[in-house]
Amino acid sequence: MGDFSDLLESHGVTRREFLKYCSALGAALALPLSMTAKIAEAIESDTRPPVIWLEFQDCAGDSESLLRANRPTVGDLVLDHISLDYHETIMAAAGHQAEASQQATVEKYKGKYICIVEGSIPTEAGGVYCTIGGRTAVDILKQVGGNAALIIAVGNCAAYGGLPAAHPNPTGAKGVSEILPGKTIINLPGCPMNVDNLTATVVHYLTFGAAPACDRHLRPLFAYGKRIHDNCERRAHFDAGQYVENWGDYGHRQGWCLYKMGCKGPETFHNCPTLRWNEGLSWPVMAGHGCVGCSEPLFFDAMMPMYRRLPNVPGFGVEASAVKIGTAIVGASAAIFAAHGAVTTARNWKKIGKAKAEAREEISHLNSDSDSEES
Ligand code: SF4
Ligand code: F3S
Repeated sequence: MGDFSDLLESHGVTRREFLKYCSALGAALALPLSMTAKIAEAIESDTRPPVIWLEFQDCAGDSESLLRANRPTVGDLVLDHISLDYHETIMAAAGHQAEASQQATVEKYKGKYICIVEGSIPTEAGGVYCTIGGRTAVDILKQVGGNAALIIAVGNCAAYGGLPAAHPNPTGAKGVSEILPGKTIINLPGCPMNVDNLTATVVHYLTFGAAPACDRHLRPLFAYGKRIHDNCERRAHFDAGQYVENWGDYGHRQGWCLYKMGCKGPETFHNCPTLRWNEGLSWPVMAGHGCVGCSEPLFFDAMMPMYRRLPNVPGFGVEASAVKIGTAIVGASAAIFAAHGAVTTARNWKKIGKAKAEAREEISHLNSDSDSEES
């Protein structure tokens, strides 16, 4: 326990501030206040599991999210405190020495460590599109992830394939759950993931020895249980029928709703409006841009065109609109989700490809309907 107290002290964090942080974390995880002491105890424990961070086909945005705090917050110190045994981008070791350290952790802590994965896994041409130390990403993930107690897939690429999996997906990019069906996996999608959600997930695991409750896409409900649209500060404008019609117009300057500018908030589940980014400073919609749906399994293909609005519906501007919009999109997406279930059980990749194509067609049909209604 001593080393964590020292770490806090060296950064000027008092015990009171630390406990306040634990209580906020408990609230974010929807736990009762009485769990604060248990959370603090779990964080301070010396028996925390080591972590191996794997990075595959990606832009390193999740590593950036991990590292880019202006000043270390208590959350950063918590992540510092867990034993990050292997992270290619930030570890001092390189080459054979780095790979040896990874293998030593796998062997010593088999079944006990956390594996965090960033980036999609290319499967075409025997996986040659991403190799590290002479091994393919598929091979590394199967060995390192396969022996972990828990896998956390950070960012949309690791969770669902993300941008590399966009049509025509030349590398055969896939998410972690498609490579390791049946493993305990938590998806923290986003482009990139929000590091506060990673901290909360790790702390939940440290406290209870189990993953938090997740939805059918393996996303923890504490972070992905509500739609962006449910908590958006522009929601009152949506309900009042006040929309931005052009970038920089009066409505845009007044902070009106971005629905007509392509905001995908009504069909996206993520806690961006409440958690925000950059130490709670802002989030995309607050900055004046619509949500592009980066935490959804359908991202990227089905969320484009970026500035094309979701289908128009009768009763536009009233509460019922969002529900109807959601229903229309869910209808288009249902085939994908159903096929995704089939893929993870029967591993039939063709089904998800077909379902994605059908959903794209359906969404483009809905969009052209809304265009003709506009004209
Ligand atoms: Fe907010 Fe977008 Fe919903 Fe408008 S459509 S209220 S900008 S989430
Ligand atoms: Fe992504 Fe939308 Fe949040 S684009 S970062 S889920 S506001």
